[in-house]
Amino acid sequence: MENAAPSPKPQAVLFDAYGTLFDVYSVGSLAEQLFPGQGQPLSLLWRDKQIDYTRLVTTSNEGAHYQPFWDLTRAALRYACKRLGLNLTAECEGQLMNQYRHLSAFPEDREVLRALKSRGIATGILSNGDPAMLEVAVKSAGLQDLLDHVISTHAIRKYKTHPQAYALGEQACGCAAAQIVFVSSNAWDALAATWYGYRTLWVNRQGLPFEELGTPPTHTGTSLRAVLDLFPH
Ligand code: LAC
Repeated sequence: MENAAPSPKPQAVLFDAYGTLFDVYSVGSLAEQLFPGQGQPLSLLWRDKQIDYTRLVTTSNEGAHYQPFWDLTRAALRYACKRLGLNLTAECEGQLMNQYRHLSAFPEDREVLRALKSRGIATGILSNGDPAMLEVAVKSAGLQDLLDHVISTHAIRKYKTHPQAYALGEQACGCAAAQIVFVSSNAWDALAATWYGYRTLWVNRQGLPFEELGTPPTHTGTSLRAVLDLFPH
C-alpha cells in the first residue's frame, strides 16, 4: 500500500538495526533451551521492556537517568525473567546477553545493501544500539563494507523516538529527511520517523497491524527487498 506520490528522489537509505537488520527474536531459541516452554514469551517481553526503558530514560528528568542500550537490554532481561518467574543465573544471563550481541542478520540484508550500493545510494544504520553493540553486530553479519554510516543515538544520550535522534540521520547523510528513506520493522519507529519527515518503509514481516494513530508509513513491504522498488534501475 502506498501513500500519495512522495518527492523528491531519495539520496540515502537508513535502516533501523534491531528487528530490522538483526533478528531480535533469534534469541528465542537459546531462551527456549534455557527455559523450556518460555522462549517466546521471554524474548517478546524482553524486547518490549527494553523499548519501554528507552522511553522512560529519554522522557524523564532531562535524561538524568540515561543508560546505554546494552545496560537497558540487560535490565530488561532481568525484569522479564522476574516477571515470568524464571531463575536467571549469572551463567544464563551471560549466555543470553552474548546471544544478543551476536544476533542473526536477516537473510536478505547483504543482497539488498549490495543492490543499493550498486545503484549509487548511500546506506546506513540509525539505531538506539550503542556503538560497541552496533560494531559487533555489523561485523558478525559481515555488513561493514556495505554501510556508509553507522549512527548510534548514544551520541546524544536520547533514544528514538526523540526528534534529536532522528536528526542524527539528516546530519550524517547531509540531506533533509524527505530525501532519505528510513526503513524499520518496528511500527512505532516507522511512524515516528514519518512524523519527523522521513520517507519511510515499514517492513512488516509478521503481518502485524500498523499503529492506530492516524498516520501511515510512506511505504509498507514484507521484507527489506521492498526498498529496492523505490530505486528502479
Ligand atoms: C534500534 C531498535 C529500536 O535498532 O530496534 O534502534
